[in-house]
Amino acid sequence: MTKRTPVIAGNWKMNTDIKSSRELALQILELTDEVTGVTKIVCPPFVTIAEVSELLHGSSIQVGAQNVNSNPDGAFTGEISASMLSGLVNTVIVGHSERRTYNGESSVLVAAKAKAASKAGITPIICTGESINIRDSGDAVSFVSHQLSESLESFTNWESLIVAYEPVWAIGSGQAATSEQAQEMALICRQVIRELSGNMADSVPVLYGGSVNSVNISEFIGQPDIDGALVGGSSLKAKEYSKLVHIAATY
Ligand code: 13P
Repeated sequence: MTKRTPVIAGNWKMNTDIKSSRELALQILELTDEVTGVTKIVCPPFVTIAEVSELLHGSSIQVGAQNVNSNPDGAFTGEISASMLSGLVNTVIVGHSERRTYNGESSVLVAAKAKAASKAGITPIICTGESINIRDSGDAVSFVSHQLSESLESFTNWESLIVAYEPVWAIGSGQAATSEQAQEMALICRQVIRELSGNMADSVPVLYGGSVNSVNISEFIGQPDIDGALVGGSSLKAKEYSKLVHIAATY
């Protein structure tokens, strides 16, 4: 089986201002810069990306964005294009369930964003995950297969892609998925990637996200199809984020 480098990606969401993002980035730098064998990513809010990117320049920690517009430029007030982000970030989260829910983003739009990012040399982290109603009705597998296939529509740059399975009910709830549930769905994600990409499925990192912390991370990262975590709350505390990185480094 292909050995994939573990990934610990922190999604800071709508938290931190210039001062606190600076402090957080510097603490993370101090605690994790030396750790090898893990891809470390922090995704600050847009307004602090330039600052964080400058602070982490030349370090082993990558910077990502939390969103991108699918258009190259033009009259899109308040939006940020992939070309504006290139040079500042290596990755961008697309299709997060919070954006799908609060901003009405469809998988068709998510696919367009992923392609726009890719074209600008930025690795998309494409998120997928089912709501509690879908899980309870037993349709999680078919929902996620469909959502991820649509979100990967006409995607081609398989060497530069991360997929994150984030069940909506586990995000910010303190109730993480079980490792069995997460592994089952990560495998489904990998099967979707396999169907669309052919032989690239074994090299694409598939992450789990949803109430990950330093106590439960090992259960997830120890699964054959889970290559790390997309972390919200725990990524806002430098020590906790650092613990995740150190644990991931042992896999
Ligand atoms: P929490 O880790 O806070 O549950 O958030 C997960 C998430 O949404 C990461 O994108």
